[in-house]
Amino acid sequence: MTVYITCLLTSCFPSLDTRRLKEVFLKLGIKEMDLNDGKQNGSQSYYIIAKYNEDFLIFFSEFLMPGLVDTHIHACQYPNAGLGYDRPLLGWLEEYTFPLEAKYSDLKFAKKVYDSVVRKTLDCGTTTACYFSTIHTNGSMVLVESIIEQGQRALVGKVNMNTNHPDYYGETTESSLKETQNFIDLLLNKKNDLVKPVITPRFAITCDMKLMKELASLAKKYDIHIQTHISENIKEISFVKELFPDQESYGSVYDSAGLLTNKTILAHGVHLSDEEIKLLADRKSAISHCPLSNSHLKSGICNVRKLLQNGVKVGLGTDISGGCSPSIIQVMQGALASSVHLCFCCDEESKELAYEGEYPLALDYQEVFYLATLGGAEALAMEDKIGNFKVGKDFDALLVSMKDSSSPVDIHMPYETKELIQKFMYLGDDRNIKKVFVSGRLVKSL
Ligand code: GUN
Ligand code: ZN
Repeated sequence: MTVYITCLLTSCFPSLDTRRLKEVFLKLGIKEMDLNDGKQNGSQSYYIIAKYNEDFLIFFSEFLMPGLVDTHIHACQYPNAGLGYDRPLLGWLEEYTFPLEAKYSDLKFAKKVYDSVVRKTLDCGTTTACYFSTIHTNGSMVLVESIIEQGQRALVGKVNMNTNHPDYYGETTESSLKETQNFIDLLLNKKNDLVKPVITPRFAITCDMKLMKELASLAKKYDIHIQTHISENIKEISFVKELFPDQESYGSVYDSAGLLTNKTILAHGVHLSDEEIKLLADRKSAISHCPLSNSHLKSGICNVRKLLQNGVKVGLGTDISGGCSPSIIQVMQGALASSVHLCFCCDEESKELAYEGEYPLALDYQEVFYLATLGGAEALAMEDKIGNFKVGKDFDALLVSMKDSSSPVDIHMPYETKELIQKFMYLGDDRNIKKVFVSGRLVKSL
């Protein structure tokens, strides 16, 4: 595979000279190489073209890896991270989440929270995030401003909800559509290549069929993404059945509305039927796997292996504040752990296998690394731009260091690169992420 990176590598690795880099590559078995310190647009850059792995470039105990992709995060819920896990989904929304989201009519409050969630996620290595804001158009634009100022790549959705909402937090069908149109216009007028709108019906409980159909038309008209939630919690699914008695399943509610496209990201998908999984695969819609949220809100365990085997695109999501952590590193740890737990409780066959020492449902670190990077990019239909270091993609990257004494990872001996990567995934945190680049721009530097 070919790696082609154009970036200011010298700013990452000031001590590197070209000769040394060539030696390192040769040691790593990289045979074909064209390395020079040529200039591009007047800036000092190294071009590296190497037949190697698209996922990593390794320099001693530091490595460059593709940026992390968070395919599902409620920016507005950041103040509640770590709180309110004594209620399952529907009670949690009523008691903790809607009251918080209602506060975002206050733009000063919005600015404070949104600045900090964008800063925090960048520090944790999230170069691309797919955000929910709230129903407020102006508040959603405050989030857009924070993202643009700090240089993250993002999709941003103004939430839609016209039914089954509290009196103090909701919209009519007309205002929901008018404000969504307004939000799309405002955001597209920014003409920012990195930040785009995403149509965001909250879920089938809070949006009626008319609204969902109109939103699907808007998505089609502008050729933009769609995000929502699906089959997260058993009581939620029963309520959707009551609301849409003529529909075969939760998935077919969205399909009838025209909301399942190849640019649709559905969070959770914990309790999908085989038919629904096939439907999502046929429509090329993706699931955002949110293992921390699935645990904290006691929703269930998602069988990611089954989704992947059936051709459904999967990325990882923090789902702040259903999930407690803004860091995809922690979500990777959750994805690894929950996939092992599933082996012991999924069905009789899996249980028997697990007791015999076989764990076919468990994800390994390479698979979870993929979900956090290229898998996320595919889930967001952005794999032509991000996800790995393939020729022609944008440079969204993390410089990870394992040699810093303040890091949570102690290095006692020379580890192989794949061991460093495992250590980073299982016990690393944002202290190990020394630099973050989005589209070649340095957006974090320790
Ligand atoms: N379903 C509808 N809204 C939400 C939300 O804000 N968080 C989660 N986890 N699920 C939802
Ligand atoms: Zn969510």
